[in-house]
Amino acid sequence: MLVNDDLRYVVKTTARTYDTIAPEYCRKTRQQRFLDWERGYIERLFFSIRQPAPRLLDVGCGDGRHCRIIEELGGSAIGIDRSRKMIAEARTYYARGHYVIMDMCALAFRSAWFDGIWASGSIYHVPKSTVGQVVQGFKRIVKRHGVIAVSFKLGSGEGLEENPRSYRGSPRFFAYYTKNEMEDVFSRAGFSTIASCAYPEDVYGDGIQQMWFGR
Ligand SMILES: C[S@@+](CC[C@H](N)C(=O)[O-])C[C@H]1O[C@@H](n2cnc3c(N)ncnc32)[C@H](O)[C@@H]1O
Repeated sequence: MLVNDDLRYVVKTTARTYDTIAPEYCRKTRQQRFLDWERGYIERLFFSIRQPAPRLLDVGCGDGRHCRIIEELGGSAIGIDRSRKMIAEARTYYARGHYVIMDMCALAFRSAWFDGIWASGSIYHVPKSTVGQVVQGFKRIVKRHGVIAVSFKLGSGEGLEENPRSYRGSPRFFAYYTKNEMEDVFSRAGFSTIASCAYPEDVYGDGIQQMWFGR
């Protein structure tokens, strides 16, 4: 495993990989067995926000399927992604969606604009040295009682990975967290845990955690 803490380098390298693998990646993530679980977890986000038609930001929106679910459930969504090709996939898959190519480390939205944030499998792509700053950015753009839902990989360590069994070794940066570590990240920004559960193993494989945070 390579380790490189240079933020711009890891963000750019990871985005370039998603640009390369976008069609293949999206074919995998659009399977019904994922959608059923994810819809339930998005409904849980709606329940925690307790507001009709919440305005949500989908961070690292990938193929756009979650933006579609959010709008099917009566909310509105803006999907951001650092990968231009993933945004192109999203525009093809759910053309009614609103998408912007944007880095989660530099969120260009006005303060207190969103009722909540859905960040599925995306914050683990920034180094741990930066994740606190990313969460502060989330805090700035959500309303006072905004809720943030994140999913991430359980474990320890971080680095740029080139696994030959994963997209032919195309490099992507991953940071692994324990539940307590993720709670610390959010509590330092003033959030507490609303709920937490693991995705079942037969959905994404072992060790994918889903958590909801609020203030
Ligand atoms: C594992 S995929 C998850 C995609 C989608 N949320 C899902 O659950 O299927 C991670 C996504 O985060 C995006 N991403 C990675 N680094 C990012 C960054 N710094 N800012 C915004 N998006 C980023 C990638 O391009 C990719 O689409």
